[in-house]
Amino acid sequence: MELTLQAPLDMHLHLRDGEMLENIANASTHTFSGAIVMPNLVPPVSSKEEVTAYKKRIRHAIGNEDFTPYMTLFFKPSYDKTFLENVKEEITAIKLYPAGITTNSEGGVSGFDVEELRPALEAMSDLNIPLCVHGETNGFVMDREAEFVHIYEKLATAFPKLKIIMEHITTKESVAALDKFENLYATITIHHLLITLDDVAGGMLQPHLFCKPIAKRPQDREALLKVALEAHPKVMFGSDSAPHPKHAKENCGCAAGVFTAPIALQLLAELFEKHHALENLQAFISGNATRIYGVSPLKKTVILEKKPFKVPSDYNGVVPMFANEEIAYRIKEVKLG
Ligand code: NCD
Ligand code: ZN
Repeated sequence: MELTLQAPLDMHLHLRDGEMLENIANASTHTFSGAIVMPNLVPPVSSKEEVTAYKKRIRHAIGNEDFTPYMTLFFKPSYDKTFLENVKEEITAIKLYPAGITTNSEGGVSGFDVEELRPALEAMSDLNIPLCVHGETNGFVMDREAEFVHIYEKLATAFPKLKIIMEHITTKESVAALDKFENLYATITIHHLLITLDDVAGGMLQPHLFCKPIAKRPQDREALLKVALEAHPKVMFGSDSAPHPKHAKENCGCAAGVFTAPIALQLLAELFEKHHALENLQAFISGNATRIYGVSPLKKTVILEKKPFKVPSDYNGVVPMFANEEIAYRIKEVKLG
């Protein structure tokens, strides 16, 4: 059996920098038409010069592949309208991290005081720049995302014209918030559609499944599955593929992040087929994102084939999800147009 996908988009991706960027870029650029590139480098990407220079380094790492990096800035409450007007043409969105909540987010936001955030968020709203949010408080790890929902509601109410994207949602509470506010959208990863906390820590600890937000309960996964499989018009695929070197994962003090970029489309095909929802995969993987972000992705056709594929043990030293295991689909062909 074959399956054809047009212009797949990954609306939440960590491409990293330096040697890691060179090593892992093609895991995404081969099959995806484009991706929203996260800005959590060290230091974070927070000026026009930095975003332009980072895009150049990405272009270099991409080589001849046809792929659009949709760039983001690391949100700072000090961004004003003049700054944003000037940087707008270089970016597709701005990513907000609560301070210290995940990898390289120390310079993020604390407190979420609407008045403090108002100048920057109103300017973004006026300029139609979407706000991507890592929605977790610093509460108990299983409750962090659900606790953050009231902050989403506060922001969505205070800035009704601002497009707010709840990144990598993992809970039924975030799913419920989607339908309450017109200006809330969400990305969903493949790993959060497949695993629960049991897979991470229910038996032997699985460092390669450890990420932020941590995978939650079966009921949460069910809620995510429902909106992903029906390609709810406000959800889109975002892998949150977050590579770390093997030694940083298989370590006392494991870095958070699951590396799924090279197998994401194959896993989605298997999942949507299993749930008899293949007719909605195109919208989840590209159509919804195109509409929500107003982007026109490069025309790329990916043909998947239902034939067992053994996932490699690593890609240039980065261990992927399901390393050494068999998955049901493989990439048969990628062509332009
Ligand atoms: C991401 C990373 O490593 O940059 N880690 C993760 O667990 N998802 C950061 C993030 O998106 O939280
Ligand atoms: Zn991420």
